[in-house]
Amino acid sequence: MQPVSLLFVCLGNICRSPTAHGVCLQRLQERGLSEAIKVDSAGTGDWHVGAGPDSRATEAAAGKGYDLTPLRARSVTVQDFYDFDYILAMDRQNLADLQAMAPADARAQLALLLDFGSSDESEVPDPYYGGDDGFGHVLSLVEDAVDGLLARVCER
Ligand code: 4NP
Repeated sequence: MQPVSLLFVCLGNICRSPTAHGVCLQRLQERGLSEAIKVDSAGTGDWHVGAGPDSRATEAAAGKGYDLTPLRARSVTVQDFYDFDYILAMDRQNLADLQAMAPADARAQLALLLDFGSSDESEVPDPYYGGDDGFGHVLSLVEDAVDGLLARVCER
């Protein structure tokens, strides 16, 4: 069976989407699903390409047992729309930017990550210019939504 593939997307690919990427990798490993479900993350912007996640994101994640340190930022490419089954945007601006670059024959389904969560919030707020609290909030929202997403994907 072909693996299902998931791409998490934010603006810089150093805070929110690597958090989702790291949480998802760990969930998949815990459940023995690492071969069945492939995960990556990317940014709509290119300022941080090649950089590791923001240290505030890495620290918040490490506090709950997730290792973001191997991840490196990259930009979304048109090829991603053919390579992934689901592209999950962190906020509405990310989603609009993805919709604007999507080829007409894209294979990927685009959605907001929090559509799969149980929170009242519909977007993962950008924590980059805020305080450290923002990173803990991002992590909680992302954990909840990744669990919902994996439950949905595993129903397929
Ligand atoms: P992210 O956060 O989109 O969650 O990775 C940001 C990272 C960098 C910038 C903005 C948001 N920036 O403007 O450089």
